[in-house]
Amino acid sequence: MKLSDPTKLSLILAIAISLLFAGLVKLLFNLSAAPIEGYYFAGSSILFFVIIFFMIRYSVKNFIFEKIRVIYKTIHQFKKSSREPIKPARGQDTIEKVNQEVLQWQKDTHQQIEDLKQRARYRREFIGNVSHELKTPIFNIQGYVLTLLDGAVDDPQINKQYLERTENSVNRLINIVEDLENISQLESGALKLREEHFNVVETARDIVEQLEIKAHQKGIRLYFRKKYDKIQVKGDHHRIRQVFTNLIDNSIKYGTEGGTTKISFFDMHDHILCEVTDNGPGIPEQSIPRLFERFYRTDKARSREKGGTGLGLAIVKHIIEAHNQTINVRSKEGVGTTFAFTLKKA
Ligand SMILES: Nc1ncnc2c1ncn2[C@@H]1O[C@H](COP(=O)(O)OP(=O)(O)O)[C@@H](O)[C@H]1O
Ligand SMILES: [Mg+2]
Repeated sequence: MKLSDPTKLSLILAIAISLLFAGLVKLLFNLSAAPIEGYYFAGSSILFFVIIFFMIRYSVKNFIFEKIRVIYKTIHQFKKSSREPIKPARGQDTIEKVNQEVLQWQKDTHQQIEDLKQRARYRREFIGNVSHELKTPIFNIQGYVLTLLDGAVDDPQINKQYLERTENSVNRLINIVEDLENISQLESGALKLREEHFNVVETARDIVEQLEIKAHQKGIRLYFRKKYDKIQVKGDHHRIRQVFTNLIDNSIKYGTEGGTTKISFFDMHDHILCEVTDNGPGIPEQSIPRLFERFYRTDKARSREKGGTGLGLAIVKHIIEAHNQTINVRSKEGVGTTFAFTLKKA
């Protein structure tokens, strides 16, 4: 029997006390000269039982209710959830209700702690990664400057070369800082997306033109799957430009010399699917789930050598998700890679 039920508890106590009372009365009258009438005895015992039962029940309920209400209130004050506190009813299932609430509270709190731990871990890792990324160009700059100061500045054979290398490292630092700024804006939610209507074909064409020289240097041909007319989409124009820049730039950076990068658009009812496909080396299958993580690269040395920060795809994913759209990647080693994301039609 569940003793959490105040009625049952009172019933047991009342029966016990009444039996005791009846036994005592019987004993007293047996001892005295005038024995009690049977129905008087039964009647008074029942009356006694009823009175005792209600008295006990009333006190138990009030007692429990008062105590529990305090606990309940405390829990609700701690609860950050927007959930309206359920008022504990003065009734049989008060304890059960509170029990449920406490269990839920414990679950919520546990989840919150886990989230905080995860975030702390993430931050630690992030700071470690950032300082690691910054170190390389800073040490390079230091090296070139020290060499120049040590006399190389007077050597016309190498002074210009060293200054150019210094400039490269400075550019790299700028890239990293810009990417970091972007990602922290996106992650803190400080960035408000603008909702503009624009022609996505035009946007892609613009980026292709910008990156044409870079592609040409690697013998990579950038082209559209077919001749597209105007496709109007909704979103933050500047941010979507960033997405195309990152994806096309990656296809050039990591693509094979003499390869191709194809840009395609597909009509999907109320969305447009945009794809950037290369015939480069592809991405190893085990790397694919981690590809959009900050600082993740399949080949660290190669990415750094190409001026990559490992933040590009993380930024791309943030931008697409901020638009409530999705991005995914298909890749086969030795065949090529396709990045596909959706945009809402205007
Ligand atoms: N088109 C691609 N082909 C092969 N590998 C790619 C491609 N795009 C991205 N990658 C891999 O994904 C990693 C992460 O890309 P990204 O976040 O843009 O960083 P970054 O370009 O700064 O290195 C790259 O370092 C590269 O290893
Ligand atoms: Mg990149």
